[in-house]
Amino acid sequence: MKGVLICGGSGTRLRPLTEITNKSLLPVYNKPLVEYPLGKLVDAGITDIVIISGNEHIDQMASYLGSGGRFGCKFTYRVQDKAEGIAQALGMAEEFADGDSICAILGDNIYFDNLTPAITSFKSGGHVFLKEVPDAERFGVATLRYAQGDKAVVDSIEEKPKKPKSNFAVTGCYVYDHRCFEVIRNLKPSARGEFEITDVSRWYLEHGELTASVLKNEWIDAGTFESLHRAAVMVQERQK
Ligand code: G1P
Repeated sequence: MKGVLICGGSGTRLRPLTEITNKSLLPVYNKPLVEYPLGKLVDAGITDIVIISGNEHIDQMASYLGSGGRFGCKFTYRVQDKAEGIAQALGMAEEFADGDSICAILGDNIYFDNLTPAITSFKSGGHVFLKEVPDAERFGVATLRYAQGDKAVVDSIEEKPKKPKSNFAVTGCYVYDHRCFEVIRNLKPSARGEFEITDVSRWYLEHGELTASVLKNEWIDAGTFESLHRAAVMVQERQK
């Protein structure tokens, strides 16, 4: 399995911190944000990783992350010229994936669960990680047919619904087999003009091939001042 680390977006909600710096290089206690999602890939034994970022930030991403040697990884870089969605960014990894399945993770998502068992036991189809949140309208939202332990069967999936049908956010880590690239090539942009990762997951759902894990611990999308600060406090507490 290969890794895709998606560090796009202009980080508008974090201005002026993101005026010059990519969101994923902002500090979370003692490390740049990106090291947390990167660590999740490395923990799962994924070391061949493509980093995708916009043309305004790819230089600083490469400057910080380098060849990957420091992390025991081999990094490849791809530039996303226009920020037209996570699915579009993932689509840029097709050549790199070379027929393998992929684990894509967003550069601003911090997980306090162990994702390794779900990633390493993946065989085919799609797999997503869900977390119950109070503000589901900010995220992709899944309704569940049933949940048992940390496994769930998804019934529906929607991107940022105005009236969420459940509190389960679809978090920013996606495991897909190589068919995701064909799905992405056939996607149409959403109302907000983006190629949505939720539409890729929905394709697997409609084909009866989407599985899901429910996270037990905290998950943070560090895209706002509050969540970035909360992430730093949580990391600090865990290191005490
Ligand atoms: C993206 C996805 C959304 C997901 C979220 C997780 O949203 O589109 O489905 O729940 O990441 O962080 P965005 O960060 O682009 O608003």
